[in-house]
Amino acid sequence: MDAFTPAPEDRFTFGLWTVGWQARDPFGDATRPPLDPVESVHRLAGLGAYGVTFHDDDLTAVQPDRGRAIEDFRKALAETGLKVPMATTNLFTHPVFKDGAFTSNDRDVRRHAIRKVIRNLDLAAELGATTYVCWGGREGAESDAAKDVRAALARYKEAMDLLCGYVVERGYDIRFAIEPKPNEPRGDILLPTIGHALAFIGELEHPERVGLNPEVGHEQMAGLNMVHGVAQALWHGKLFHIDLNGQHGPRYDQDLIFGHGDVQSAFFLVDLLESGGYDGPRHFDYKPPRTEDAADVWESAAANMRMYLILKERSRAYRADPEVQAALADARVGELARPTLAPGETLADLARDDFDPDAAAARGYHFTRLSRLAMEHLLGVRG
Ligand code: GCO
Ligand code: MN
Ligand code: MN
Repeated sequence: MDAFTPAPEDRFTFGLWTVGWQARDPFGDATRPPLDPVESVHRLAGLGAYGVTFHDDDLTAVQPDRGRAIEDFRKALAETGLKVPMATTNLFTHPVFKDGAFTSNDRDVRRHAIRKVIRNLDLAAELGATTYVCWGGREGAESDAAKDVRAALARYKEAMDLLCGYVVERGYDIRFAIEPKPNEPRGDILLPTIGHALAFIGELEHPERVGLNPEVGHEQMAGLNMVHGVAQALWHGKLFHIDLNGQHGPRYDQDLIFGHGDVQSAFFLVDLLESGGYDGPRHFDYKPPRTEDAADVWESAAANMRMYLILKERSRAYRADPEVQAALADARVGELARPTLAPGETLADLARDDFDPDAAAARGYHFTRLSRLAMEHLLGVRG
Protein backbone atom coordinates (compact mmCIF):
# COMPACT_ATOMS: atom_id res chain seq x y z
CA MET A 1 0.00 0.00 0.00
CA ASP A 2 1.28 3.43 -0.93
CA ALA A 3 -0.23 6.75 -1.97
CA PHE A 4 -1.01 5.29 -5.37
CA THR A 5 -3.12 2.36 -4.18
CA PRO A 6 -6.62 2.66 -5.66
CA ALA A 7 -9.81 2.59 -3.64
CA PRO A 8 -13.47 2.51 -4.74
CA GLU A 9 -13.73 6.29 -4.08
CA ASP A 10 -11.41 6.80 -7.06
CA ARG A 11 -14.22 5.41 -9.25
CA PHE A 12 -12.05 3.25 -11.50
CA THR A 13 -14.00 0.90 -13.74
CA PHE A 14 -13.03 -1.72 -16.32
CA GLY A 15 -14.84 -3.40 -19.19
CA LEU A 16 -15.14 -7.16 -18.75
CA TRP A 17 -13.83 -7.34 -22.31
CA THR A 18 -10.55 -5.63 -21.34
CA VAL A 19 -9.11 -7.99 -18.75
CA GLY A 20 -11.04 -10.81 -20.45
CA TRP A 21 -9.45 -10.21 -23.86
CA GLN A 22 -7.94 -13.47 -25.00
CA ALA A 23 -5.54 -11.63 -27.28
CA ARG A 24 -6.84 -12.94 -30.56
CA ASP A 25 -5.76 -10.49 -33.27
CA PRO A 26 -6.01 -10.46 -37.08
CA PHE A 27 -2.67 -12.26 -37.30
CA GLY A 28 -2.81 -14.77 -34.49
CA ASP A 29 -4.81 -16.95 -32.17
CA ALA A 30 -5.66 -16.38 -28.54
CA THR A 31 -2.74 -16.46 -26.13
CA ARG A 32 -4.87 -16.62 -22.98
CA PRO A 33 -7.75 -18.85 -21.87
CA PRO A 34 -11.28 -17.43 -21.49
CA LEU A 35 -11.79 -15.56 -18.25
CA ASP A 36 -14.85 -16.08 -16.09
CA PRO A 37 -16.59 -12.72 -15.47
CA VAL A 38 -17.05 -13.88 -11.87
CA GLU A 39 -13.28 -14.08 -11.46
CA SER A 40 -12.88 -10.65 -13.09
CA VAL A 41 -15.33 -9.12 -10.62
CA HIS A 42 -13.48 -10.60 -7.65
CA ARG A 43 -10.04 -9.70 -8.96
CA LEU A 44 -10.98 -6.13 -9.86
CA ALA A 45 -12.60 -5.59 -6.48
CA GLY A 46 -9.44 -6.96 -4.85
CA LEU A 47 -7.36 -4.42 -6.78
CA GLY A 48 -9.48 -1.50 -5.55
CA ALA A 49 -11.68 -0.87 -8.59
CA TYR A 50 -15.13 0.67 -8.20
CA GLY A 51 -16.99 -1.08 -10.96
CA VAL A 52 -17.24 -3.22 -14.07
CA THR A 53 -18.93 -2.63 -17.38
CA PHE A 54 -20.02 -5.18 -19.95
CA HIS A 55 -21.39 -5.93 -23.40
CA ASP A 56 -24.38 -8.29 -23.42
CA ASP A 57 -22.15 -11.02 -24.89
CA ASP A 58 -19.31 -10.64 -22.35
CA LEU A 59 -21.41 -12.25 -19.65
CA THR A 60 -21.56 -15.58 -21.46
CA ALA A 61 -17.77 -15.93 -21.90
CA VAL A 62 -17.63 -19.23 -19.97
CA GLN A 63 -21.28 -19.88 -19.06
CA PRO A 64 -23.30 -20.20 -22.29
CA ASP A 65 -26.65 -20.15 -20.45
CA ARG A 66 -27.43 -16.40 -20.34
CA GLY A 67 -29.80 -16.70 -17.36
CA ARG A 68 -27.24 -18.53 -15.24
CA ALA A 69 -24.44 -16.25 -16.39
CA ILE A 70 -26.42 -13.20 -15.25
CA GLU A 71 -27.22 -14.86 -11.94
CA ASP A 72 -23.53 -15.69 -11.30
CA PHE A 73 -22.52 -12.15 -12.25
CA ARG A 74 -25.07 -10.62 -9.92
CA LYS A 75 -23.90 -12.83 -7.07
CA ALA A 76 -20.28 -11.77 -7.61
CA LEU A 77 -21.35 -8.10 -7.62
CA ALA A 78 -23.24 -8.57 -4.36
CA GLU A 79 -20.29 -10.34 -2.74
CA THR A 80 -17.76 -7.69 -3.72
CA GLY A 81 -19.82 -4.50 -3.74
CA LEU A 82 -18.58 -3.74 -7.27
CA LYS A 83 -20.95 -1.48 -9.24
CA VAL A 84 -22.06 -1.52 -12.88
CA PRO A 85 -22.15 2.18 -13.87
CA MET A 86 -22.18 1.48 -17.61
CA ALA A 87 -23.28 -1.20 -20.05
CA THR A 88 -23.16 -1.59 -23.81
CA THR A 89 -24.11 -3.92 -26.65
CA ASN A 90 -21.94 -6.03 -28.88
CA LEU A 91 -23.04 -4.99 -32.37
CA PHE A 92 -19.83 -6.02 -34.11
CA THR A 93 -18.69 -9.62 -33.45
CA HIS A 94 -21.46 -11.68 -35.03
CA PRO A 95 -21.12 -11.83 -38.84
CA VAL A 96 -24.68 -10.51 -39.14
CA PHE A 97 -23.22 -7.09 -38.29
CA LYS A 98 -20.61 -7.16 -41.07
CA ASP A 99 -22.19 -4.06 -42.67
CA GLY A 100 -23.01 -2.43 -39.35
CA ALA A 101 -26.01 -2.54 -37.05
CA PHE A 102 -28.14 0.63 -36.88
CA THR A 103 -26.85 1.62 -40.33
CA SER A 104 -26.61 -1.71 -42.13
CA ASN A 105 -27.99 -1.52 -45.65
CA ASP A 106 -30.09 -4.57 -44.66
CA ARG A 107 -33.22 -3.32 -42.90
CA ASP A 108 -33.75 -6.64 -41.07
CA VAL A 109 -30.29 -6.36 -39.56
CA ARG A 110 -31.13 -2.85 -38.34
CA ARG A 111 -34.28 -4.17 -36.69
CA HIS A 112 -32.34 -7.03 -35.09
CA ALA A 113 -29.72 -4.60 -33.75
CA ILE A 114 -32.32 -2.41 -32.05
CA ARG A 115 -33.95 -5.50 -30.46
CA LYS A 116 -30.53 -6.62 -29.14
CA VAL A 117 -29.88 -3.23 -27.54
CA ILE A 118 -33.35 -3.08 -25.99
CA ARG A 119 -32.88 -6.49 -24.38
CA ASN A 120 -29.62 -5.44 -22.79
CA LEU A 121 -30.98 -2.03 -21.77
CA ASP A 122 -33.42 -3.81 -19.49
CA LEU A 123 -30.57 -5.70 -17.84
CA ALA A 124 -28.46 -2.52 -17.63
CA ALA A 125 -31.31 -0.76 -15.81
CA GLU A 126 -31.78 -3.70 -13.43
CA LEU A 127 -28.07 -3.64 -12.57
CA GLY A 128 -28.19 0.09 -11.90
CA ALA A 129 -26.20 1.32 -14.91
CA THR A 130 -26.84 4.99 -15.66
CA THR A 131 -24.76 5.22 -18.83
CA TYR A 132 -25.28 3.17 -21.97
CA VAL A 133 -22.42 3.35 -24.46
CA CYS A 134 -22.99 3.19 -28.20
CA TRP A 135 -19.78 2.45 -30.03
CA GLY A 136 -20.54 2.22 -33.74
CA GLY A 137 -17.67 -0.11 -34.53
CA ARG A 138 -19.09 -1.44 -37.76
CA GLU A 139 -21.29 1.51 -38.72
CA GLY A 140 -19.31 2.48 -41.78
CA ALA A 141 -17.89 1.28 -45.06
CA GLU A 142 -14.79 0.34 -47.00
CA SER A 143 -16.01 1.88 -50.23
CA ASP A 144 -17.69 5.26 -50.72
CA ALA A 145 -19.86 3.53 -53.31
CA ALA A 146 -21.34 1.22 -50.69
CA LYS A 147 -22.90 3.64 -48.24
CA ASP A 148 -25.30 6.52 -48.61
CA VAL A 149 -23.88 8.42 -45.67
CA ARG A 150 -26.80 10.84 -45.39
CA ALA A 151 -29.26 7.94 -45.27
CA ALA A 152 -27.00 6.13 -42.79
CA LEU A 153 -27.04 9.16 -40.49
CA ALA A 154 -30.83 9.30 -40.76
CA ARG A 155 -31.02 5.62 -39.71
CA TYR A 156 -28.49 6.22 -36.91
CA LYS A 157 -30.71 9.05 -35.66
CA GLU A 158 -33.79 6.87 -36.00
CA ALA A 159 -32.16 4.19 -33.82
CA MET A 160 -30.99 6.68 -31.18
CA ASP A 161 -34.43 8.33 -31.09
CA LEU A 162 -36.11 4.94 -30.63
CA LEU A 163 -33.71 3.92 -27.86
CA CYS A 164 -34.11 7.24 -26.05
CA GLY A 165 -37.88 6.94 -26.40
CA TYR A 166 -37.74 3.46 -24.88
CA VAL A 167 -35.67 4.59 -21.91
CA VAL A 168 -37.99 7.54 -21.30
CA GLU A 169 -41.09 5.36 -21.57
CA ARG A 170 -39.67 2.79 -19.13
CA GLY A 171 -38.56 5.52 -16.74
CA TYR A 172 -34.96 4.28 -16.73
CA ASP A 173 -32.31 6.58 -15.29
CA ILE A 174 -30.05 5.97 -18.30
CA ARG A 175 -28.24 8.32 -20.64
CA PHE A 176 -26.53 7.28 -23.85
CA ALA A 177 -22.88 7.98 -24.61
CA ILE A 178 -21.70 7.78 -28.21
CA GLU A 179 -18.11 6.61 -28.64
CA PRO A 180 -16.43 8.08 -31.73
CA LYS A 181 -13.72 6.20 -33.64
CA PRO A 182 -12.36 7.07 -37.10
CA ASN A 183 -11.72 3.57 -38.48
CA GLU A 184 -11.02 -0.07 -37.49
CA PRO A 185 -12.67 -2.44 -37.92
CA ARG A 186 -14.33 -0.59 -40.86
CA GLY A 187 -12.30 1.35 -43.38
CA ASP A 188 -14.23 4.43 -42.27
CA ILE A 189 -16.59 4.61 -39.32
CA LEU A 190 -19.50 7.07 -39.06
CA LEU A 191 -19.24 9.69 -36.30
CA PRO A 192 -15.45 9.42 -36.47
CA THR A 193 -14.50 12.09 -33.94
CA ILE A 194 -15.81 13.94 -30.89
CA GLY A 195 -16.76 16.88 -33.12
CA HIS A 196 -18.78 14.79 -35.56
CA ALA A 197 -20.64 13.12 -32.70
CA LEU A 198 -21.43 16.45 -31.02
CA ALA A 199 -22.93 17.79 -34.22
CA PHE A 200 -24.99 14.60 -34.66
CA ILE A 201 -26.38 14.77 -31.10
CA GLY A 202 -27.79 18.21 -31.88
CA GLU A 203 -30.07 16.59 -34.50
CA LEU A 204 -31.63 14.03 -32.13
CA GLU A 205 -35.08 14.05 -30.60
CA HIS A 206 -33.68 13.80 -27.06
CA PRO A 207 -30.34 15.59 -27.28
CA GLU A 208 -30.23 16.02 -23.50
CA ARG A 209 -30.15 12.25 -23.06
CA VAL A 210 -27.19 11.67 -25.38
CA GLY A 211 -23.58 12.60 -24.78
CA LEU A 212 -20.13 11.23 -25.42
CA ASN A 213 -17.77 8.47 -24.37
CA PRO A 214 -14.52 9.65 -25.97
CA GLU A 215 -11.57 7.24 -26.04
CA VAL A 216 -7.98 8.42 -25.80
CA GLY A 217 -6.64 6.24 -28.60
CA HIS A 218 -9.50 6.90 -30.98
CA GLU A 219 -8.96 10.66 -31.12
CA GLN A 220 -5.24 10.13 -31.61
CA MET A 221 -5.90 7.68 -34.44
CA ALA A 222 -7.54 10.64 -36.19
CA GLY A 223 -4.46 12.76 -35.44
CA LEU A 224 -6.43 14.82 -32.92
CA ASN A 225 -5.64 16.12 -29.46
CA MET A 226 -7.67 14.16 -26.89
CA VAL A 227 -7.29 16.85 -24.23
CA HIS A 228 -8.79 19.49 -26.52
CA GLY A 229 -11.58 17.12 -27.57
CA VAL A 230 -12.50 16.29 -23.99
CA ALA A 231 -12.39 19.96 -23.05
CA GLN A 232 -14.84 20.73 -25.84
CA ALA A 233 -17.11 17.85 -24.76
CA LEU A 234 -17.05 19.26 -21.21
CA TRP A 235 -17.83 22.74 -22.51
CA HIS A 236 -20.93 21.37 -24.25
CA GLY A 237 -21.93 19.48 -21.07
CA LYS A 238 -21.52 16.24 -23.02
CA LEU A 239 -18.77 14.32 -21.27
CA PHE A 240 -21.00 11.52 -19.98
CA HIS A 241 -18.27 8.86 -19.72
CA ILE A 242 -14.66 8.32 -20.82
CA ASP A 243 -12.51 5.45 -22.13
CA LEU A 244 -8.96 5.81 -20.87
CA ASN A 245 -6.06 4.00 -22.50
CA GLY A 246 -2.69 4.65 -24.15
CA GLN A 247 -1.70 5.12 -27.78
CA HIS A 248 1.44 5.88 -29.81
CA GLY A 249 -0.06 8.46 -32.16
CA PRO A 250 -2.01 7.88 -35.39
CA ARG A 251 -1.86 4.18 -36.21
CA TYR A 252 -4.04 1.13 -35.42
CA ASP A 253 -6.06 1.14 -32.19
CA GLN A 254 -3.43 0.09 -29.68
CA ASP A 255 -5.50 0.11 -26.47
CA LEU A 256 -2.32 0.34 -24.40
CA ILE A 257 -2.30 0.81 -20.65
CA PHE A 258 -3.33 4.36 -19.73
CA GLY A 259 -0.41 6.76 -20.15
CA HIS A 260 1.77 4.16 -21.87
CA GLY A 261 2.73 5.74 -25.19
CA ASP A 262 1.35 9.24 -24.60
CA VAL A 263 2.13 10.08 -20.99
CA GLN A 264 2.29 13.83 -21.57
CA SER A 265 -1.23 13.91 -23.00
CA ALA A 266 -2.37 11.61 -20.18
CA PHE A 267 -1.00 14.09 -17.64
CA PHE A 268 -2.96 16.99 -19.12
CA LEU A 269 -6.05 14.79 -19.47
CA VAL A 270 -6.00 13.83 -15.80
CA ASP A 271 -5.36 17.47 -14.92
CA LEU A 272 -8.44 18.41 -16.97
CA LEU A 273 -10.69 15.67 -15.60
CA GLU A 274 -9.72 16.47 -12.02
CA SER A 275 -10.21 20.21 -12.40
CA GLY A 276 -12.89 20.35 -15.09
CA GLY A 277 -15.94 19.15 -13.17
CA TYR A 278 -16.11 15.60 -14.58
CA ASP A 279 -17.55 13.37 -11.88
CA GLY A 280 -18.22 10.15 -13.81
CA PRO A 281 -16.27 6.91 -13.64
CA ARG A 282 -12.67 6.72 -14.83
CA HIS A 283 -13.19 3.81 -17.20
CA PHE A 284 -10.26 1.88 -18.65
CA ASP A 285 -10.75 0.42 -22.12
CA TYR A 286 -7.35 -1.12 -22.70
CA LYS A 287 -6.03 -4.51 -23.74
CA PRO A 288 -3.57 -6.45 -21.63
CA PRO A 289 -0.76 -6.93 -24.18
CA ARG A 290 -0.86 -10.20 -26.12
CA THR A 291 2.50 -11.19 -24.66
CA GLU A 292 1.09 -11.32 -21.14
CA ASP A 293 -0.11 -14.40 -19.27
CA ALA A 294 -3.17 -14.82 -17.08
CA ALA A 295 -1.41 -13.43 -13.99
CA ASP A 296 0.12 -10.50 -15.90
CA VAL A 297 -3.42 -9.43 -16.83
CA TRP A 298 -4.00 -8.27 -13.25
CA GLU A 299 -0.62 -6.53 -13.17
CA SER A 300 -1.73 -4.60 -16.27
CA ALA A 301 -5.15 -3.73 -14.81
CA ALA A 302 -3.46 -2.37 -11.69
CA ALA A 303 -0.98 -0.40 -13.84
CA ASN A 304 -3.83 1.66 -15.34
CA MET A 305 -5.15 2.76 -11.97
CA ARG A 306 -1.71 3.40 -10.55
CA MET A 307 -0.85 5.58 -13.55
CA TYR A 308 -4.01 7.63 -13.09
CA LEU A 309 -3.30 8.20 -9.39
CA ILE A 310 0.33 9.13 -10.05
CA LEU A 311 -0.73 11.65 -12.70
CA LYS A 312 -3.40 13.02 -10.39
CA GLU A 313 -0.78 13.59 -7.73
CA ARG A 314 1.60 15.18 -10.31
CA SER A 315 -1.20 17.49 -11.45
CA ARG A 316 -1.90 18.51 -7.86
CA ALA A 317 1.79 19.27 -7.27
CA TYR A 318 1.96 21.25 -10.53
CA ARG A 319 -0.99 23.44 -9.60
CA ALA A 320 0.22 23.95 -6.02
CA ASP A 321 3.72 25.08 -7.06
CA PRO A 322 4.08 28.88 -6.54
CA GLU A 323 6.48 29.04 -9.50
CA VAL A 324 3.81 27.46 -11.70
CA GLN A 325 1.24 29.93 -10.42
CA ALA A 326 3.57 32.81 -11.29
CA ALA A 327 4.27 31.29 -14.72
CA LEU A 328 0.52 30.87 -15.34
CA ALA A 329 0.00 34.54 -14.52
CA ASP A 330 2.92 35.59 -16.76
CA ALA A 331 1.47 33.52 -19.58
CA ARG A 332 -1.91 35.19 -18.96
CA VAL A 333 -3.65 31.82 -18.98
CA GLY A 334 -6.32 33.05 -16.58
CA GLU A 335 -6.93 36.19 -18.62
CA LEU A 336 -8.69 34.11 -21.28
CA ALA A 337 -11.57 33.53 -18.86
CA ARG A 338 -12.27 37.25 -18.82
CA PRO A 339 -14.93 38.28 -21.37
CA THR A 340 -13.51 40.26 -24.25
CA LEU A 341 -16.05 43.05 -23.73
CA ALA A 342 -16.70 44.41 -20.24
CA PRO A 343 -20.29 44.28 -18.93
CA GLY A 344 -22.32 46.96 -20.70
CA GLU A 345 -19.66 47.61 -23.33
CA THR A 346 -20.74 47.67 -26.96
CA LEU A 347 -19.05 47.40 -30.32
CA ALA A 348 -19.14 51.22 -30.40
CA ASP A 349 -16.98 51.27 -27.26
CA LEU A 350 -14.70 48.74 -28.90
CA ALA A 351 -14.23 51.02 -31.90
CA ARG A 352 -12.64 53.71 -29.70
CA ASP A 353 -9.24 52.23 -29.01
CA ASP A 354 -5.67 53.25 -28.40
CA PHE A 355 -4.34 49.75 -28.86
CA ASP A 356 -0.82 49.43 -30.22
CA PRO A 357 -0.65 46.20 -32.26
CA ASP A 358 3.11 46.45 -32.72
CA ALA A 359 3.71 46.67 -28.98
CA ALA A 360 1.37 43.71 -28.37
CA ALA A 361 3.05 41.74 -31.15
CA ALA A 362 6.44 42.33 -29.58
CA ARG A 363 5.34 40.89 -26.24
CA GLY A 364 6.13 37.20 -25.62
CA TYR A 365 3.58 34.90 -24.05
CA HIS A 366 6.20 33.04 -21.94
CA PHE A 367 4.63 29.63 -22.58
CA THR A 368 7.99 27.85 -22.63
CA ARG A 369 8.61 28.28 -18.94
CA LEU A 370 5.14 27.04 -18.09
CA SER A 371 5.50 24.06 -20.36
CA ARG A 372 8.93 23.23 -18.91
CA LEU A 373 7.52 23.37 -15.36
CA ALA A 374 4.69 21.04 -16.39
CA MET A 375 7.19 18.57 -17.86
CA GLU A 376 9.36 18.76 -14.75
CA HIS A 377 6.38 18.02 -12.52
CA LEU A 378 5.38 15.17 -14.78
CA LEU A 379 8.90 13.76 -14.63
CA GLY A 380 8.90 14.02 -10.86
CA VAL A 381 11.93 16.30 -10.58
CA ARG A 382 9.92 19.04 -8.85
CA GLY A 383 7.90 18.82 -5.61
C1 GCO B 1 -12.87 -0.47 -29.61
C2 GCO B 1 -13.85 0.22 -28.70
C3 GCO B 1 -14.60 -0.72 -27.83
C4 GCO B 1 -15.77 -0.06 -27.15
C5 GCO B 1 -16.61 -1.08 -26.47
C6 GCO B 1 -17.75 -0.47 -25.72
O1 GCO B 1 -12.13 0.26 -30.22
O2 GCO B 1 -12.86 -1.70 -29.71
O3 GCO B 1 -13.13 1.11 -27.93
O4 GCO B 1 -13.74 -1.28 -26.87
O5 GCO B 1 -15.37 0.89 -26.24
O6 GCO B 1 -17.07 -1.97 -27.42
O7 GCO B 1 -18.68 -0.01 -26.57
MN1 MN C 1 -10.20 1.34 -28.67
MN1 MN D 1 -13.64 2.15 -26.14
